[in-house]
Order: sequence, then structure tokens, then C-alpha cells
Amino acid sequence: MTTFWSWYVTILSLGTIFALTWLIFGTRKGQREETTEETVGHSFDGIEEFDNPLPKWWFMLFIGTIIFALGYLVLYPGLGNWKGLLPGYSYLDNKEQTTFSTGSSGWTGVHQWEKEMAKADVQYGPIFAKYAAMPIEQVAQDEQALKMGGRLFASNCSVCHGSDAKGAYGFPNLTDNDWLYGGDPETIKTTLLKGRQGMMPAQLGVIGEDGIRHVAGYIRSLSGLKNPEGIKVDLAAGQNIFAANCAVCHGADAKGQQAMGAPNLTDKVWLYGSSFAQIQQTLRHGRNGKMPAQEDFLGNDKVHLLAAYVYSLSQDKTEK
Ligand code: HEC
Ligand code: HEC
Repeated sequence: MTTFWSWYVTILSLGTIFALTWLIFGTRKGQREETTEETVGHSFDGIEEFDNPLPKWWFMLFIGTIIFALGYLVLYPGLGNWKGLLPGYSYLDNKEQTTFSTGSSGWTGVHQWEKEMAKADVQYGPIFAKYAAMPIEQVAQDEQALKMGGRLFASNCSVCHGSDAKGAYGFPNLTDNDWLYGGDPETIKTTLLKGRQGMMPAQLGVIGEDGIRHVAGYIRSLSGLKNPEGIKVDLAAGQNIFAANCAVCHGADAKGQQAMGAPNLTDKVWLYGSSFAQIQQTLRHGRNGKMPAQEDFLGNDKVHLLAAYVYSLSQDKTEK
């Protein structure tokens, strides 16, 4: 902040507090000490006002807020460039944590958060590290680990995949055995660490509206769906278009390719819906589902635990 704005904020803030202090003491002058039945003498729509002093509790509360405000502004950064008397937090306090943003002084919300995170890391880090050293399949058998994984999932993943991990439109179900990228432990971990970006290119410019209709009908027929009556679908034409334009990613048998995240089009699992209209929409404009990378955000140890949790969701719990 430039010096000008720093003073601007400071004078405005302190000025307001002093003005309010003056107001509260100023209006007390000349007031009677006792409460009476006398009114100030005017009436608004029949409503009159007693001529009584401010209740003491109200006055004290007002004074209290003023003292609180001044105390706050001394301790915390609120007045322009004033950093406050409370100490900040720097990674220099904790030599092992070098990822923290700044070494500058003064309290800030970021510093507070970093301090709490560092404390949590010291406390829970060894537990995460213990699991990180175990193979994912083995972690997936550990009850405490699954509980921790479940909590991590609830706070980091459920916004998109749902609290039951069953997914939603555009967000894959993680509890079934149908995988875009693969369901073995290491692939799940790679998905989480690096993220994924689905690349289904728009087809309208390539095969045109008629082509889209035929191939949409064709892939619906692959999973046993009947096409709506009254729509002219040429399945043979659809098959040819598929072989020429789609098989390269979805495979000649349309069973998908996990290396590129191209889904199996012959099963009953649909990420973007299976209706004739929805599939045509997918084909016209393409789809680009994005799974955000967690490597820099949660770090390897937490991701390891989460991978075990996700892996456990699709395993049959009865056999051990
Ligand atoms: C912003 C939304 C979002 C968040 C948050 C998110 N995901 Fe995803 N995730 C997606 C999308 C979208 C896909 C599908 C990507 C695609 O279409 O190619 C996906 C894909 C996946 C896959 C691959 C599924 C498969 O079939 O191969 C796994 C596993 C996964 N997510 C787990 C997680 C976990 C665990 C977390 C929490 C750390 C998480 N996701 C957080 C949106 C999200
Ligand atoms: C460059 C590779 C590529 C090509 C070419 C391609 N697709 Fe895809 N397709 C994908 C990927 C990857 C996805 C998943 C997108 C996502 O996860 O967001 C996808 C998704 C789909 C879906 C959605 C499936 C669902 O579960 O909702 C359909 C339907 C589809 N493709 C059909 C086709 C058809 C038909 C063609 C040919 C006209 C075609 N694709 C061409 C890669 C491709």
C-alpha cells in the first residue's frame, strides 16, 4: 500500500472510532440521571418517546466495542501498513518446512493457516508417512487408514464425486468396476497425483449432423439401447463413421482405451448420459472432463492414503 492510502485508511478508521466516542459522550451531557415517565414531547403517528438516559448496559457495551476495536487495531494488521503487534510466522521457525510462502513478519490469515498446517504436519505426518511406505493394497485393508482416507475424501473429493463417491453427471462413479483410466492401485494413484484431462474432440465439423445422428444411433445399439422411433438412423453408415473417426480412440470394438481415458461405449455406464439427445450433444461439441492434480496440493503421502481408499471402494468387502 502506498503511504497515501495507508494514511487514508488509518485516518478514516481511527477518525470514525473517535467520532463515535465523541457522539456517545456528547449525547450523555445534560441527560437526567433517573428514568421517568416524561416524554420528549413529540409524537409520530401516535408513538411517543420517553426522555430517559441510555440504559447503562447499553452504554457499557458501546464503550466495550470501542475498546475492543482499538485493541484489535493495535494487535492485528488493520490500519494501513501497520503490521500489528502479534508475531507473524515464518518458515524459518520450522526449518523442515520450506514450502511456506514468506518469511515476513506480522500476523496474517495466511501465516496463521501455515502455522496450523505445520503443527498438523508435525502431529500427523508420521502416521501418513507410515502408510505411505506400505503398498496400497495393504493400506486398503487397514481400518484406521480407510477412516483417514474417508475423511480426506469427504473434504477434498466429495464436492465433485459425491459423498458416497458414486459420481454425478460428468463426474465418474468411483465405486463400480468401470474405469476411464484404470482401477489398479498404481493407476489410481497416478490419476490423483497428476490429474486427468478427458479429450473427446468435437465432431460436428468432421462428420456433420447426419453423421452424428447415424453414429449416435450406432453406439446406442452397441449397448442394447433402442433408438427413438421417427428418427432416421442408418446403422451401417454409423458403423463406417465409427471405424473411420472414433475407433482410433475408443477401440475397434468400442470397448474404450484406458491409456487415453476413452470410455467403453458398449456398457451401461455413461458419464454424460445415454439419451439420444445427450449422446448427440457429446458428439457435436466434444467433452473435456478435468480431474484436478493433487500432487502439489495434498502431496504424495495423503494421495497414497486416498488411492487406497478409492481402491477399497470397488473391492468386494466380503472376501479378504
Ligand atoms: C473439480 C472436480 C473434481 C475434484 C475435486 C476431484 N475430481 Fe476426480 N475426477 C473429476 C472428473 C471430471 C474426472 C473425470 C475426468 C475425465 O473425464 O477424463 C475425475 C476422475 C477421477 C478418477 C478416475 C476415474 C476413472 O474412471 O478412471 C479418480 C480415481 C478420481 N477422479 C478420484 C478423485 C479423488 C480421490 C479426488 C479427491 C482428491 C478427486 N477425484 C477430486 C473431477 C474431480
Ligand atoms: C481423440 C480421441 C477420441 C476420438 C477421436 C473420439 N473420442 Fe469419444 N471420447 C474420448 C474421450 C477421452 C472421452 C471421455 C471424455 C471425458 O472424460 O470428458 C470420450 C467420450 C465419448 C462419449 C461419452 C461417453 C459417456 O460415458 O458419456 C461418447 C458417446 C463418445 N466419446 C463417442 C465418440 C464417437 C462416436 C466418436 C467418433 C465420431 C468419438 N467419440 C471420437 C476420446 C475420443
